[in-house]
Amino acid sequence: MNTLKSITIRRPDDWHVHLRDGAMLDAVVGYTARQFGRAIVMPNLAPPVTTIAQASDYRRRIITAVGKGISFKPLMTCYLTDQADPAEISRGFQEGVFSAVKLYPAGATTNSASGVTNMAIVSGVLEVMQEIGMPLLVHGEVTDPDIDIFDREAVFIERVLAPMLTDFPALKVVFEHITTSQAVAFVRSQGPRLGATITAHHLLIDRNDMFRGGIRPHLYCLPVAKRQGHRLALLEAATSGEINFFLGTDSAPHSTTAKESACGCAGIFSAPTAMELYAHAFAQAGALEKLESFASLNGPDFYGLPVNEETITLVREDWNASSGISVDDDTEVLPFMAGETLEWKMVD
Ligand code: NCD
Ligand code: ZN
Repeated sequence: MNTLKSITIRRPDDWHVHLRDGAMLDAVVGYTARQFGRAIVMPNLAPPVTTIAQASDYRRRIITAVGKGISFKPLMTCYLTDQADPAEISRGFQEGVFSAVKLYPAGATTNSASGVTNMAIVSGVLEVMQEIGMPLLVHGEVTDPDIDIFDREAVFIERVLAPMLTDFPALKVVFEHITTSQAVAFVRSQGPRLGATITAHHLLIDRNDMFRGGIRPHLYCLPVAKRQGHRLALLEAATSGEINFFLGTDSAPHSTTAKESACGCAGIFSAPTAMELYAHAFAQAGALEKLESFASLNGPDFYGLPVNEETITLVREDWNASSGISVDDDTEVLPFMAGETLEWKMVD
């Protein structure tokens, strides 16, 4: 039983977030910038961010949307396609524009149509990244329609990830938003060059929650939530303090109309209360003292960056998380656990 009333930790970073663009960017970025010092920004815009020019323009739009007086550093990523140019990618890394490359298997998730169709096609790029120490961030699900959606991550480990790590023994890789006990075990078997991000929602919900009393489209994301046993394995990994595991919200806003539809899209928007959600999960596991390593230390260690100097404080206090966020006149986004009681609150 954890009786802590408040906890102060170094300012955390979000190692996996979708900030979108335009009015949606304006509406959501402040939530991430309020809580986190830095964030790895996903490149799955339409069209995807594949060039240095696109990434630096996007970075400028993010900084403008954050506004003055808030210290927040967006770290940009390059969307890997079959046509990727190794020279552009390594130049972007050397110039400090790209922090990493993101691999989406083509068709695996939202805006992944331009993703990689066959790993052999991008081996030249991976070769260069291995040489220069540039991390590859992986959406780890196979797209084979014959594989059950709940097995796609476990099968990805066998078919794609393990062979890739063997072929590129020095490539730094992050297995993004892991959802299974198989992923936890695999990450542990690989040493420090393989990291893994874990979302708050995968620590808090299992697949039954998507169907609690009816179908709940706001709890649908990819990789989809798995059985309870997998959730517990993730919680154990996140609270272990082991350096491979670090925070990545995968906050992925979509309008309520896109979510509440006959074919609702994948993505959970957790940015407004991200740290509160993680604190809730860690407190439930009696492991709040491990929150700082997971949220603020292990990620910088993997990326070779200094930890943040400032701190944040969370206090134990029941409060009602806000409901819908307005993007424009007819667009609203509903955050994860909107309207529900949260037990921890970040104070400014
Ligand atoms: C993400 C999105 O909406 O961009 N959706 C999601 O369910 N996580 C894409 C992704 O990270 O898979
Ligand atoms: Zn994502």
